[in-house]
Amino acid sequence: MKKVLVTGGAGYIGSHTVIELCNDDFIPVIVDNFSNTDDRILDGLHQLLGYSPELYRVDCTDYNALKAVFSTERPDAVIHFAAFKAVGESTALPLKYYSNNIESLLVVLRLMEEFNISDLVFSSSCTVYGQPEKLPVDESCPPQPATSPYGYSKQVCERIITDACAARPALKCALLRYFNPIGAHPSALIGELPFGIPNNLVPYITQTAIGIRSQLTIHGSDYQTPDGTCIRDYIHVCDLASAHVKALRWLENQSAVCEAFNLGQGLGNSVKEVVDTFVRVNESALPVVMGPRRPGDVEQVWADVSKANEQLQWKTERSLEQALKDAWKWEKHLQQAGVKS
Ligand code: UD1
Repeated sequence: MKKVLVTGGAGYIGSHTVIELCNDDFIPVIVDNFSNTDDRILDGLHQLLGYSPELYRVDCTDYNALKAVFSTERPDAVIHFAAFKAVGESTALPLKYYSNNIESLLVVLRLMEEFNISDLVFSSSCTVYGQPEKLPVDESCPPQPATSPYGYSKQVCERIITDACAARPALKCALLRYFNPIGAHPSALIGELPFGIPNNLVPYITQTAIGIRSQLTIHGSDYQTPDGTCIRDYIHVCDLASAHVKALRWLENQSAVCEAFNLGQGLGNSVKEVVDTFVRVNESALPVVMGPRRPGDVEQVWADVSKANEQLQWKTERSLEQALKDAWKWEKHLQQAGVKS
């Protein structure tokens, strides 16, 4: 069985990917500095898997510490999630974002070369496209100037990997461009952990519905879209996680490759549609107000996912409705766990 080092493996997408790796007979090894997650996710993983995967509390920018992990574990492949991801915070703290997101990738790439490891799956983002001229956007669409340091860090990381692959053909990489991951594992044992006020739409919705926030503000209702609110491509986090396993299997059969893949549902939904769907499927009240546009938001973006469908043999299996039900179940689980503790 192949061993896969999962940096950021205790995080939101990382933890769901750990489950999918085990389901496909990979052995995950988690590296995480717990800057944006905590031990509740480890408990959930233990319950779901029936064992605790090997775990290192290590920051990926720490070359010596990560080298020790590579020496001990000798992984066959790496999935690199570990990064900061809050768009607004990145504008206030650009150096934090550049140093963490870029340095951790450089350390991972150096160690992959030193330990002769070929296969890398990298967490990228649809943010590299900016506001595309053509929708749905496919991978051939040229990246637009980034609107945030977070977005620029992803563009730089993609470029670094592309250059590293060109210089060392043994290195193979899948650059996975996520659209908007939402939801949680249907067991409600793992999901996204709220640290402070959520930036993203769905955690804000669930926290409002449960009473932590007083109301949801829809950022902008005067966009050139059918109902005036922004359109995004929301994908269930479990579907997103399974794409990482497909990408690893795909890499096994490639040589000298560096390819980008869009990972979305292939459908656009407006903010208002997400809100209405949440209220309908969960029969939940949700106080909503309309507010001004949020700086830096693109008007609409959704994915052409045919490349991932065809080359990775991957497709999504879960609907927006399912994702919003699972997100709500997770929020209720957090509340119950909070009451008990
Ligand atoms: C952004 C990034 C994405 C990144 C993600 C991680 C872009 C284009 N996208 O996604 O690459 O991976 O952050 O955090 O840079 N909204 C509200 N009210 C709220 C919260 C959100 O109306 O309280 C709206 C937003 O204006 C937006 C939509 O909901 O139209 C989705 O927002 P969000 O969940 O923050 O994701 P993105 O900004 O699309």
